[in-house]
Amino acid sequence: MRILTGLQPSGKLHVGNYFGAMEPAVRLQEEGEAFYFIANYHAMTTVKNPLELRAFTRELAVDFLACGLDPERAVFFLQSAVPEVNELAWILSTVCPVSQLEKAHSYKDKIAHGFSPSHGLFAYPVLMAADILLYDSRLVPVGKDQKQHLEITRDLAGKINEAFGEGTLVVPEPMIRDATAVVPGLDGQKMSKSYGNTLPLFATPDEARKLIMKKLVTDATPLEAPKPQENSTLLSLYRLMAGEVEVAAMEADYERGGVGYGDFKKRLLEAYLGYFEPMRLRRDELLADPGYVDAVLARGAEKARAAAAPVLDRVRRAVGLA
Ligand code: ADP
Ligand code: TRP
Repeated sequence: MRILTGLQPSGKLHVGNYFGAMEPAVRLQEEGEAFYFIANYHAMTTVKNPLELRAFTRELAVDFLACGLDPERAVFFLQSAVPEVNELAWILSTVCPVSQLEKAHSYKDKIAHGFSPSHGLFAYPVLMAADILLYDSRLVPVGKDQKQHLEITRDLAGKINEAFGEGTLVVPEPMIRDATAVVPGLDGQKMSKSYGNTLPLFATPDEARKLIMKKLVTDATPLEAPKPQENSTLLSLYRLMAGEVEVAAMEADYERGGVGYGDFKKRLLEAYLGYFEPMRLRRDELLADPGYVDAVLARGAEKARAAAAPVLDRVRRAVGLA
């Protein structure tokens, strides 16, 4: 079973990205033939500086590998290394109703946030459909913000099959992550780079200390009183990164009272540093060996192109291009 997902290189990764996207992707590589790629064409809709795009792309490749993406198991590549995806996007665009793209939440959202309404931003879901359909992907794990894009993908595949013959494209199954699994940011809202409330995945110990001690919100419960556990951002983050025994101890201290938030924050910092330590070390090794990362991506690109070729050939024949 081919499992495919893409991540945009649009900034520094945070703890929400890790638990929401990378960690599930790393776990899924055991379940089937994983195709994971860096969506650098997509990132161009918002990242307009070439130095930035290159740096974000590089960083995401290193970080994904540091988090456990296994290039022996998964095919890992840059979207732009398989430019054939643009041909399939064109073919899909010829059956895609404009009205469907006009209804896309992500497009309306970006415009509302001041991004200029380029054709690329408008056609973003068509390229995403091509990413998925080019590899005969069966399963596409994504966050719930991408649900509509997957519906568009399934719809376009259906339209192509109807017009040019059943079996021209494989209709993929979405795998939408649980909405309750959203990681809160330092201010208690969803952690997101657009909200400036992130705990970066690879902050230095000093940066992490400052963020947790100074920016993480807590309520005004006095030190001696029991602390409310519900909606506690601190406790939610701690549960993700601390061991079972430590979590039980913190819950007991919340319930009993007599321990202040400063103390809990120190425990959270320790848990954060400990949890990501092995990944940080792996990341340092990868940063010191750029040739290795290049070789992984080159091998991934080769495999991805080989997988794409027969699909594109099938589509070209079906529509009358070949
Ligand atoms: P951001 O909101 O910081 O811009 P992206 O939209 O680039 O993050 O998300 C990249 C991936 O990380 C997506 O799969 C998304 O579902 C996941 N993700 C982002 N923020 C969170 C969060 N707070 N909790 C869980 N998953 C998240
Ligand atoms: N749009 C996705 C996001 O922002 C990234 C993406 C691009 C993707 N192409 C894809 C995800 C194909 C899954 C499959 O998160």
